[in-house]
Amino acid sequence: MPPAAPSRVRAAAPDAAVFVRFSATDAAEGGWDVADTVAASRLVAAAGADLIDVSSGGLVPEQHIVPGPGYQVDYAATVRRETGLPVAAVGMIDDPTFGEQILADGRADAILSGREWLRDPHYALRAAAALGDDVPAPAQYVRAY
Ligand SMILES: Cc1cc2nc3c(=O)[nH]c(=O)nc-3n(C[C@H](O)[C@H](O)[C@H](O)COP(=O)(O)O)c2cc1C
Repeated sequence: MPPAAPSRVRAAAPDAAVFVRFSATDAAEGGWDVADTVAASRLVAAAGADLIDVSSGGLVPEQHIVPGPGYQVDYAATVRRETGLPVAAVGMIDDPTFGEQILADGRADAILSGREWLRDPHYALRAAAALGDDVPAPAQYVRAY
């Protein structure tokens, strides 16, 4: 992706928040690594990116990823620490309390999740309840709560 892409996105959608995702490492000898991600994050931020979404995976056959809860958080924390930019952590952060702790520890500014929403489309309500927030159910569902 050309580093200037965020500025093109911002020009087309001035009110949108521009997120840029990086696979933080390809886990290949001599390949893309977290230091490259830090450098590239600075470039896209200078071009208008608001948040760096730090993921990894699936790029070279010889990589050995060991998935587990929060297995990519260290990458996000490194980008945040090295650049001072807002970052999102992703990857098996399925427990609301765990996600909240990552934020409280200053390792990320946002948590993004995917597959948990496939397993439970009401995850937002469940997570809010688990964290003590009172988020109203959609009107159509109120009778179920
Ligand atoms: C099989 C698989 C392959 C993935 N490959 C990539 C990848 O190549 N690059 C990337 O940035 N994220 C990759 N992801 C991460 C997803 O895009 C997404 O961020 C992640 O699934 C979100 O975490 P969650 O579904 O555990 O909540 C992959 C995820 C899965 C399950």
